[in-house]
Amino acid sequence: MSELRFDGQTVVVTGSGGGLGKAYAVFFGTRGANVVVNDLGGSFNGEGQSSKAADAVVDEIRAAGGKAVANYDSVENGEKIIETAIKAFGRVDILLNNAGILRDVSFKNMSDDDWDLIIKVHVKGAYKCARAAWPHFRKQKYGRVINTASAAGLFGSFGQCNYSAAKLSQVGFTETLAKEGYKYNIICNVIAPIAASRMTQTVMPPDILEKLKPDWVVPLVAVLVHPSNKHETGSIFEVGGGHIAKLRWERAKGALLKTGPSLTPGAILRQWNNVNDFSESSHPSGVADFMSLLEEAQKLGENEPGDQLDYTGKVVVVT
Ligand code: NAI
Repeated sequence: MSELRFDGQTVVVTGSGGGLGKAYAVFFGTRGANVVVNDLGGSFNGEGQSSKAADAVVDEIRAAGGKAVANYDSVENGEKIIETAIKAFGRVDILLNNAGILRDVSFKNMSDDDWDLIIKVHVKGAYKCARAAWPHFRKQKYGRVINTASAAGLFGSFGQCNYSAAKLSQVGFTETLAKEGYKYNIICNVIAPIAASRMTQTVMPPDILEKLKPDWVVPLVAVLVHPSNKHETGSIFEVGGGHIAKLRWERAKGALLKTGPSLTPGAILRQWNNVNDFSESSHPSGVADFMSLLEEAQKLGENEPGDQLDYTGKVVVVT
């Protein structure tokens, strides 16, 4: 049986001094890729820095016969990380935006610093690395990007509003990069992983963490960034502990109302079941889907004041 190989390709893995990033870096090192092991080497909540974490992973990859270099910059300086790839290996093919930190605190107690730091690392960091790699991807008509979201971003999570906001941003970011990159063979996907790491070790019990090895997230990432994946792009995947599933947007059946003065709060309340009815749903993937609904709504035309005012017996329905 043959294996998915990445010979001659350069993969940049941000935050790969530990956790998921390390698992990606080590894997790609064994599959023929040149690996840039980036890590700022600070604490899980973004304090301090050190070259130790990245160096240890580089040593491990080299000891196993792979090719790797370290980079210790913060992802906020993405251009320096991509520069390391170009200087060491002359190219960049794959970018795994993985670096991250937490500043968990209830919304009531959230400080501007807690908010800003999380947005800086997760949102600006992913932007800066992708922005620096993009011209190379376009020029060589080849690029693969994985951004990292989180269940906290998709569904919300108590005490993590800064992190949730930052992580859901990666979905919109990826969806747009996928649309802009497609004709240049730049494929971009976003994952919501779950794995045992220093980030999760304080919030999950050991017996659960045992079932969530970072290594079990890696194979999906490998499939998505492999040259053989030419069309799976702009997608969201949940992955961890052996579970892998794609997520997508779902639009309820909805209500189409005549516009104009009759489009009152009461008119919406009368359609509330349809607004919430997922028995006849659709799965939009772009603004064009909304435009066709708009056309349908326009066909209904406008109403005059009072047109849709219902009466239920003698009770006047809210307008
Ligand atoms: P981790 O804490 O083990 O790894 C994150 C790495 O990023 C660390 O080595 C850290 O030094 C590095 N880093 C932090 N800030 C950096 C910066 N400014 N520049 C460069 N490197 C920096 O955490 P884990 O769990 O491996 O997380 C990896 C990614 O997966 C993160 O984006 C995280 O938000 C995300 N994630 C993880 C989940 C999990 O269950 N472990 C769940 C959902 C999302």
